[in-house]
Amino acid sequence: MPKLVRSGGRTLLPLTLIIFSLLTQNGSTVTATMATNSNHHFKEAPQFYNSPSCSSINSSENAVHVAMTLDISYLRGSMAAILSVLQHSSCPENIIFHFVASSFAETAHLNLTITKSFPYLHFTIHPIQDIAAVSGLISTSIRSALDCPLNYARNYLADLLPQHLHKVVYLDSDLILVDDIAKLAATPLTEDSVLAAPEYCNANFTTYFTPTFWSNPSLSLTFANRNRKPCYFNTGVMVIDLERWRAGDYTTKIVEWMELQKRMRIYELGSLPPFLLVFAGNIAPVDHSWNQHGLGGDNFRGLCRDLHPGPVSLLHWSGKGKPWARIDANRPCPLDGLWSPYDLLQTPYSLES
Ligand SMILES: *[C@@H]1O[C@H](CO)[C@@H](O)[C@H](O)[C@H]1NC(C)=O
Ligand SMILES: *[C@@H]1O[C@H](CO)[C@@H](O)[C@H](O)[C@H]1NC(C)=O
Ligand SMILES: *[C@@H]1O[C@H](CO)[C@@H](O)[C@H](O)[C@H]1NC(C)=O
Repeated sequence: MPKLVRSGGRTLLPLTLIIFSLLTQNGSTVTATMATNSNHHFKEAPQFYNSPSCSSINSSENAVHVAMTLDISYLRGSMAAILSVLQHSSCPENIIFHFVASSFAETAHLNLTITKSFPYLHFTIHPIQDIAAVSGLISTSIRSALDCPLNYARNYLADLLPQHLHKVVYLDSDLILVDDIAKLAATPLTEDSVLAAPEYCNANFTTYFTPTFWSNPSLSLTFANRNRKPCYFNTGVMVIDLERWRAGDYTTKIVEWMELQKRMRIYELGSLPPFLLVFAGNIAPVDHSWNQHGLGGDNFRGLCRDLHPGPVSLLHWSGKGKPWARIDANRPCPLDGLWSPYDLLQTPYSLES
């Protein structure tokens, strides 16, 4: 376990903050919400130290590289996720974060916010240079929050992150880890797999694509000749071999499916189906404990969900409901209480000594 030597608390005065719902349904509300959120203040996280057995991080080889998106409307989730990663890591100083932001204009503010809460964090921020090109590829889905260009950043990691990086762990912003990320990062990418993720073969794979897709043999044959049975996997937690990704030009393969989706509707969800189309049946497995997903409920109502049976290394509030929004609305689900300890938002009433 990491040693907690210094508490980062400073004396903080009560602030009056009006918390707006972070989940909005249309673009105009999003703009208003973002302006409000930039006034949010986050507490400083404690400093976390390597345990003596950790190797020194003098080359990027023995570091754990983590990629996450960073934007103002999900910042509270991202901050909690970062804190959870550090807190459960044996070698927190060996973790390097690679944040993807939606524009160069946002990076200065995000840099400042991250640096204030995590003064010791190793991180870089990579703006998506051509967000308009990404936006142009997005078809509207059944849930508008899924149509944000940054939701597609995971498609472009191999181009956005430094070319010398071999491997990265991609994490969504609506999750927390309760186990050492080094274990996840060490997942073997067997059979030349490009990525590893927990698979769910009991989920009805058919439902992720439209009848238009299944009735067209040239499309549905996509899933013939896979190494194994194609199964659903969640793209919120993935270990990605960036070298293999670049060598196989998988970004182009995903973009081709998105272009097809613009012409004929072959799926209903956002960034997930193109990943299934390109990788399902060819991914390396990861234990289910690493993505206890669906805690946000479904895509329409966001009802409370329970954990899946088995151990828990990572809790993921995928689906419509987000723990911070439900907590602010005074309607938390029972499991949202597991997210709260990682919440760094400075609330009006929290006073630290
Ligand atoms: C990193 O440090 C170790 C000793 O801690 C040393 O053996 C190794 O050569 C160094 N690697 C690089 C790339 O500097
Ligand atoms: C953040 O700002 C500091 C101070 O200006 C700068 O040195 C650093 O390179 C910036 N980091 C990123 C990731 O933009
Ligand atoms: C899976 O879903 C499809 C389409 O909704 C349905 O026709 C099929 O019966 C389902 N299969 C199983 C095993 O439930």
